[in-house]
Amino acid sequence: MSNPILKCKSCGNEYGSDRIIYTCPECGSLLEVAFEIPDVTLKAMANRPFGVWRYREFLPIEKETEIITLDEGGTPLYRCDKLAKWAGIKRLYIKFEGANPTGSFKDRGMTLGVTKAKSLKSKAVACASTGNTSASLSAYAARAGLTCYVILPSGKVAMGKLAQALMHGAKVISVKGNFDEALKLVMELSTKMGIYLLNSVNPWRLEGQKTLAFEVIDQLDHVPEFVAVPMGNCGNISAIWKGFKEFKSAGITDCCPRMYGVQAAGAAPVINMLKENLAKLEPVKAPETVATAIRIGNPINWPKAVDAIRSSNGIYDSVSDTEIIEAQRLIACLEGIGVEPASAASVAGVKRAANEGLVEADSEIVCVCTGHLLKDPEEVISVCGRPIEIPPDLKAVSGLISPSATT
Ligand code: F0G
Repeated sequence: MSNPILKCKSCGNEYGSDRIIYTCPECGSLLEVAFEIPDVTLKAMANRPFGVWRYREFLPIEKETEIITLDEGGTPLYRCDKLAKWAGIKRLYIKFEGANPTGSFKDRGMTLGVTKAKSLKSKAVACASTGNTSASLSAYAARAGLTCYVILPSGKVAMGKLAQALMHGAKVISVKGNFDEALKLVMELSTKMGIYLLNSVNPWRLEGQKTLAFEVIDQLDHVPEFVAVPMGNCGNISAIWKGFKEFKSAGITDCCPRMYGVQAAGAAPVINMLKENLAKLEPVKAPETVATAIRIGNPINWPKAVDAIRSSNGIYDSVSDTEIIEAQRLIACLEGIGVEPASAASVAGVKRAANEGLVEADSEIVCVCTGHLLKDPEEVISVCGRPIEIPPDLKAVSGLISPSATT
């Protein structure tokens, strides 16, 4: 890997990779990691374990650096014919990110981000989070021996995620505000106190998340037509798009997929912006959705997400909570894959796109399902109800068994 640099997406200014900055000191815009695209084939990397670090040549971390890893990535890509039929398209795949060590795609980014924090000699790391980022950062910080601070919107973080942050030993701080307010706070705090920030505004973290694109190409052996991604703070869709572009630049593939950005209807500032053709994002002041992971009204990475959708000739839409819950249940009941509500937004989005004629009936779409069902048990109980309770006797239990379903 030739020396990676940080490059401003807007003014083009360049900064050394040892600078601890999250936005351009010159103009305040987002930064991106830039490096010379390696000359390497998929075959040359194929005998390494399947996961984030298989694609070492594309990861901008110096050779001698100690890697902080929990063997993340290498997640399954499931072909889902029953869901495809329901959605009204030919082929639907789920890239199941719930299979990562802490149960979400964040681990791909944290292996890079925490490795970088350690190499920069940071002693403490921090994030604001709707839940998964904090769960993941807490685990990787524990593994690296770093102090971890997480700032959460009070009362809006799913129980499984909170449990992870607490058990991994993070200092968990609840703020009486939403995610957008928590993020603003932690960005100021990290600059003031010299704590390394690991929200998706950190471009090194996104370098890990781009490996999802590499894995999809590895697994499918071709580039899919569409990749549907639920959007919250908009880091993931930007990272995945960067991954596809890099494999094309390296000559590993000869095309890129069309990106499909999906938001929850109550937290859809990017979709509103694109639909109304605005020049700039108008934040949603009081975002609300059952998909608490993407309950974000002012996503920091919106310029990168808009770029991913526009330059891939992509599509975009929002889905209601009812559509999200229906998709979550069908993913679980028809295909046996347990995902949290935000993840189901990508699948709900595919049905909507097929209905609206945004995608053809013979399309092939990969849906990124970002987090595990167990992350949010309270939502499950609220939509499925509690189990029936009976006394411990055979008559009572027999009465509940449907004769046609027995042998
Ligand atoms: N899906 C899940 C399960 C998430 O946890 C998130 C983001 C997203 C989708 C959206 O990804 O922000 O890159 O557009 N969760 C963050 C968090 C915000 O704090 O855990 P994005």
